[in-house]
Amino acid sequence: MVITIGSQKGGAGKSTVAINMALMIASSSTNYKVALVDTDKQRSCVQTLGKNCRENLTVYEVQSKPNRTIMELEEDIVVVDTPPHSHELMHLASAVSNVVIIPLQPSPLDIRAASETVKALTIIKAEVNPDLQCCFLLNRLKAGTILTKELRSTVEKLYPFNVLESSLFDRQLYKQSLITGQSVMEFDKNSPAAQEMAELVVEVLKLVSNK
Ligand SMILES: Nc1ncnc2c1ncn2[C@@H]1O[C@H](COP(=O)(O)OP(=O)(O)OP(=O)(O)O)[C@@H](O)[C@H]1O
Ligand SMILES: [Mg+2]
Repeated sequence: MVITIGSQKGGAGKSTVAINMALMIASSSTNYKVALVDTDKQRSCVQTLGKNCRENLTVYEVQSKPNRTIMELEEDIVVVDTPPHSHELMHLASAVSNVVIIPLQPSPLDIRAASETVKALTIIKAEVNPDLQCCFLLNRLKAGTILTKELRSTVEKLYPFNVLESSLFDRQLYKQSLITGQSVMEFDKNSPAAQEMAELVVEVLKLVSNK
């Protein structure tokens, strides 16, 4: 099962989500073997985690033809982090993915910029990978703000992709935990961040295993 985290918008939260999801799936009771494929030359995943960082998790650095590498991997779950901007690497990874998760922040500029990602993924779905599921993930929500309250319905009206039920709030713990290369769950398993990431993992695994 291949889960790509993709958005052409820089700083949307792709690497934060990819690293946390990969760590949390690898340490879950499912005992899945997980590959985290870092296709971004910024190397956020590789720099944060190293390559053989946990028993069930291997980080791969792949900066060309990720579709080929992904197909050859033997792990049960592959999580792919992709670069920002209109990037061929995101398109190639999406072509062999079960799901693309598009992190989206509550800002008009981010909502508008998502149209480029939607356009690219719509073409990939139509021409290469008809079973591809594309879902927005609302990220960096701020409690009590109008933008946060209206984000879900705005996005659902504007774009043809689903919005995941789970969402992530803007929390310092997402930054703090990555200083030491830990997931929010490893850093503080009782934190709200750990709770919302756990819900996200459950929802996404359900989505890909229903296929
Ligand atoms: N839910 C969150 N709460 C707080 N900070 C967050 C959250 N999600 C992401 N961030 C912060 O936002 C910044 C951008 O996140 P990240 O690097 O994961 O985005 P990206 O989409 O991978 O960026 P790029 O497009 O440059 O690869 C980082 O400083 C990260 O710590
Ligand atoms: Mg990144």
